[in-house]
Amino acid sequence: MSNQQSSAPSVAVVTGASAGIGRAAAVAIARRGSGVVVTYRSRPEEAKATVAAIDGIGGRAHALRLDVGDSATFPAFRADLADVLDREWGTGSIGALVNNAGSGGGRAFEEMTEEAFDQYYRVLLRGPYFLTQTLLPLVADGGVILSVSSSSVRPGDTEAGYSGYAGMKAGLVVASRFLAKELSPRGIRVNTIAPGPTRTRIGDDAFARFPEIADGIAARTALGRLGEPEDIGDVIAFLVSAEAAWITGQDIQVAGGFAL
Ligand SMILES: NC(=O)c1ccc[n+]([C@@H]2O[C@H](COP(=O)([O-])OP(=O)(O)OC[C@H]3O[C@@H](n4cnc5c(N)ncnc54)[C@H](OP(=O)(O)O)[C@@H]3O)[C@@H](O)[C@H]2O)c1
Repeated sequence: MSNQQSSAPSVAVVTGASAGIGRAAAVAIARRGSGVVVTYRSRPEEAKATVAAIDGIGGRAHALRLDVGDSATFPAFRADLADVLDREWGTGSIGALVNNAGSGGGRAFEEMTEEAFDQYYRVLLRGPYFLTQTLLPLVADGGVILSVSSSSVRPGDTEAGYSGYAGMKAGLVVASRFLAKELSPRGIRVNTIAPGPTRTRIGDDAFARFPEIADGIAARTALGRLGEPEDIGDVIAFLVSAEAAWITGQDIQVAGGFAL
């Protein structure tokens, strides 16, 4: 019986690593010894800050632009990625893909438009689904696909206004479970991780604009506080490592006991 990966993937791709959970995950993965390709959409300077943070702990990272809501650009992204992998790491494959990029914010059902619904769909479900398909030829046998879902998928965290957001995250959870079976002949593990409310820029920086939200969340959280990006990033780094080699097809809650 043996693990199919070394303890950490040689190179991991983390989407949406110019902020929040993605940045914390990229740093935590690098700390375990992997190279990391970090992607950003609108803030290259923040992606550079992630690369600098990884440099600062003796790791190695490279930033690429990617809009997960624009699947027509995925083939060009794959070509750029293959080029970077060859140039920077002398490899043709990645050991892990972390589908983290996303945006949040609610919209009441009666105010939902088809355009807004399609935007949730493009970024939160179609994007990671087809990015995974596009990058699959680069994912090493025994590699890992890990997508970021949300505690809003489970009963208990059912806030008015989140039917669009949570509906897409639920689709990602179910699709990932099916991929865990479909990709298993190659030893590829597929999981999702479901953060609870976490202090990031999500929702147009809602936690900074309305700090009082944190108190209400802390009161509903068994461990008594809002999540921090590192709470999630450390678990992402574990889930893509060989220590998690027997975990596949799961949605892992990382929420400090929110809405239990
Ligand atoms: N924070 C929470 O409470 C919470 C809870 C459950 C799940 N999540 C999930 O966690 C993931 C990360 O969110 P976060 O909280 O860390 O948010 P964040 O601080 O706003 O960071 C979002 C990241 O995703 C990137 N991004 C946004 N839209 C994108 C797009 N269309 N294409 C490519 N990249 C895009 C951003 O890039 P730029 O800044 O460069 O544009 C940024 O790097 C999301 O999937 C979110 O749904 C968050």
